[in-house]
Amino acid sequence: MSEILLTNIKTIYQTDNFFKRGSEMDSISSIDNAWMLMDNISGKIISLGKMDEIPNHQAEIIDMKNRAIMPTWVDSHTHLVFAKSREQEFVDRIHGLSYQEIASRGGGILNSVEHTRQMSEDELFEKSLVRLNNIISLGTGAVEIKSGYGLNLESELKLLKVINRLKDISPIPIKSTFLGAHAIPKEFKDDKKGYIHLIINEILPEVAKNNYADFCDIFCEKDYFDYDDVINIMTEAKRYGIIPKVHAEQLSHSNGIEAGVKVSAISVDHVEFANLSDFEFLKNSSTIPNILPGAAYFLGLPNPPVRKMIDYGLGISIASDFNPGSSPTGNMHLMTSIACVQYKITPNEAINAATINSAYAMNVSNIVGSISENKFANFIVLKDVQNLNFIPYSIGMNIIDEVWINGKPFKNNNL
Ligand code: NIG
Ligand code: FE
Repeated sequence: MSEILLTNIKTIYQTDNFFKRGSEMDSISSIDNAWMLMDNISGKIISLGKMDEIPNHQAEIIDMKNRAIMPTWVDSHTHLVFAKSREQEFVDRIHGLSYQEIASRGGGILNSVEHTRQMSEDELFEKSLVRLNNIISLGTGAVEIKSGYGLNLESELKLLKVINRLKDISPIPIKSTFLGAHAIPKEFKDDKKGYIHLIINEILPEVAKNNYADFCDIFCEKDYFDYDDVINIMTEAKRYGIIPKVHAEQLSHSNGIEAGVKVSAISVDHVEFANLSDFEFLKNSSTIPNILPGAAYFLGLPNPPVRKMIDYGLGISIASDFNPGSSPTGNMHLMTSIACVQYKITPNEAINAATINSAYAMNVSNIVGSISENKFANFIVLKDVQNLNFIPYSIGMNIIDEVWINGKPFKNNNL
């Protein structure tokens, strides 16, 4: 039988499909005492409803035994293809060095570039696949992955090939992002212009020719790239149909939000140092502020002004920023806990940000982000969860009974 009918679902949480802004972020629609019909072949949801209106249907029936379900998390910002962890920098920061001081001593992004350049495509692929399986086990059902640890033609293409190989075999949707403008590589140390010339004239055309990237990203920050660089690189990316994203206002106010809005970026990410005029730019745009609680927490940065943004009427999304330097975790459940505790946002706001709004921040809102007809049947079966507040509240606890991907329980054979 190609259809599966789940019965006796305690609650289906998050059935909303629209991008939520301002006060809309504090509510989540749900169906109590529900059933859900799924297509085994497409892996998609056919229909859903209340048990007292259950259809008389030829399908394999699975009794969910009064457990609640919610959509899998959508992680719209990661750098999960990298060679090696960087726990020494973690210890250096404990001893008082800042992220910028570590970077200026050759650590940071350039440290990862060194190791990633040396590693073969196959080895990078194997390591990244383990991480992908790990985050799916933690309930992630769609993920965006960036390059940015290659910073030359050969190595950026290698990273993007790895991401595209993951796309080919992944059970969950993946979007790929070209982040050539992540840092200035050491061979261009005093020649940022030369490196941007290489990005625009050599790397980007190859990326576009091979159709390797859905998005193009840039780190807009003092000592990295500035407003004009965002405009120049993104104008080129858009000529190839590649959609902009920007790492903005993470370590200082660097006008990345303004530049991101100007080039119609789908998201501006981090935004710790965003100010009121940035809120105004965002309000009049379709650019989504994508909040990365793991990086702010792990680096001890000031909290991004998330509460103020939502009160201003903006919609925010949440992602993990999984990477070896500033956020060595892809645990989206933990991101919602950090966001609630640190930014004083409600569990509903955090869960909307990490599901449906994050799906909008990576252009997959038509296939994931909520439990709705025609979307992939990617959902988390929750352990004894009576309400959604319990999820961010349960900091670091395992609240997952099962993860279902494409209408099937996910079995991780790859760890
Ligand atoms: O999103 N801010 C720039 N890039 C990453 C950090 C990457 C790294 O430290 O390796 C981030 O935080
Ligand atoms: Fe990042």
